[in-house]
Amino acid sequence: MSTKLRVGVIGCGGIAGNHIRGYLDSGRYEIVGLADLEEAAMAEKDAKFEIAPRHYTDAREMLAREKPDVVSICTWHPGHATWTIAAAVHRPQAILCEKPMADTISRAEQMMLACQRNGVKLGISHQRRFLPAYTLARDLIAQGAIGVVKTIQSFAADGLPNYSSHQTDMYRYLLSDDDCDWVMGNIERKTDRYERSTRIEDSAVGVFHFTGGAVALLLSDVTPTVYQGALIYGAEGMINLTTNNLLLLNHDTGGSWKLHEPDGQFYKVAELGDQFEWQEAGAAQAVELADWIEGKTERFRGEATNGLKALQMVHAVYESARMHEKVLLPMQTRQNPLDLMVESGHLAPERPGPYDIRAFLLRGERMASDTEGAG
Ligand SMILES: NC(=O)c1ccc[n+]([C@@H]2O[C@H](COP(=O)([O-])OP(=O)(O)OC[C@H]3O[C@@H](n4cnc5c(N)ncnc54)[C@H](O)[C@@H]3O)[C@@H](O)[C@H]2O)c1
Repeated sequence: MSTKLRVGVIGCGGIAGNHIRGYLDSGRYEIVGLADLEEAAMAEKDAKFEIAPRHYTDAREMLAREKPDVVSICTWHPGHATWTIAAAVHRPQAILCEKPMADTISRAEQMMLACQRNGVKLGISHQRRFLPAYTLARDLIAQGAIGVVKTIQSFAADGLPNYSSHQTDMYRYLLSDDDCDWVMGNIERKTDRYERSTRIEDSAVGVFHFTGGAVALLLSDVTPTVYQGALIYGAEGMINLTTNNLLLLNHDTGGSWKLHEPDGQFYKVAELGDQFEWQEAGAAQAVELADWIEGKTERFRGEATNGLKALQMVHAVYESARMHEKVLLPMQTRQNPLDLMVESGHLAPERPGPYDIRAFLLRGERMASDTEGAG
C-alpha cells in the first residue's frame, strides 16, 4: 500500500500547478482529487503533470469523497477562509493555503480556529522562505555578517495584499522571525482598483518597525523598479537580495560586492533561471510540510502564525492611513481597513468604475470578479 500523502487541490489555476509540481518533485505525495468550477482547468493539470486524479466541480464533494491527507487551497483570496474552514471539517492532516492568508484578519483567525478545533496543521504558502538565497541571507544576518540590521528596503506593485504579503513575510524571515511591533503608512486610491476580487489601493508606502530595532521601508506601485527581494543595510555591511542570489558587501569582501548563488535541494539557478524560484521553492516547501505532518520536524517555516503576521502588517498600512496613526501590532481592527475607508465614504473613488487587475485570469463568462471562488 502507498505510504504517500494523498492530496486534494481546490482551485486549479496558475498557482495550483506550483503546488502540484512541488508535491510530485518531493516524491512524498500523490494527487488524488482536483476541484475547480472549470473542467478545462483540471484537464490542463492532468496533461501537464501526467496525473489522473478524480475531478470535481464541487469542492465539498471532493473533500467528502477523497478525504485527502493534505488539501491545497488555490482559489482567489476571498475563498481562502471559506475553503480552509470547509476542508478543516474533514480533518486532513494539513492544509496548505495560498497567500494572502485571508481577506480580513478576523477570517484569518477563523481559519486558525477551525484548524485547531479539528487537529489540522495549517500552512500559508509564502514559499520564498524555502529559497536558498533567502535562507542564506537570513543565516548571514544571524551570524552578524552585516552587523545589526538598520533598514530593509523593497519595491513592490499590484496592491499590498497580493505582492507585499510576500514582502512583509520576507522581512520577518530575514530577521529570524522577529516581530513587527508598529507600522506607519499611507495610500492613494483614486480609482476603484481590485486584485483577484480584493479591493486594493493605487499606490502605497509603508514603514515597519521590528522589536530588534530594524526598520523596513516598502514602496508599492510607486517606482518602476519592482522585484521580490530587498536591499538590506546593516551597521557593518549590506546585502542585495533577489529570489535567485545575493550580493554581500562587508569587511571580509574587501569592500566590494561578492555574489552568492546557492543551489537548491532540487534545482540549480544556472539551469532554470527565472523558473528556479517557482520550482525549487514549491518542492522544498512540500518536503518540509511532509516532515511536519510526519512529526520529523516540530516547525514548518510557513505555519499559519507567520501568514497571519504577514497579513496584519499589510492591513496595518491601511489602518494607519484610516486612523492617521502609528498602528501597534497585533492589530485590534479585524475588518479590512481599506474596505472600511471606501465603504464609509471616507475614500470614495474619484474616478468610479471597478476593475480587477487579474481579471485576465478568469475563464468563461466571468469578467470582473470571482465571487463563486469565495464559496
Ligand atoms: N505564492 C505565490 O507566489 C502565488 C503566486 C500566484 C498566485 N498566488 C495566490 O494563489 C491564489 C490563486 O491565484 P491564481 O493565479 O492561481 O488564480 P487562477 O485564477 O489562475 O486560479 C484560481 C482557480 O480557482 C478556481 N475556482 C474559483 N472558484 C472556485 C470554487 N468555488 N471551487 C473550486 N475552484 C474554484 C477558478 O476556476 C480558477 O481555476 C491567489 O490567492 C493568489 O494570491 C500565490
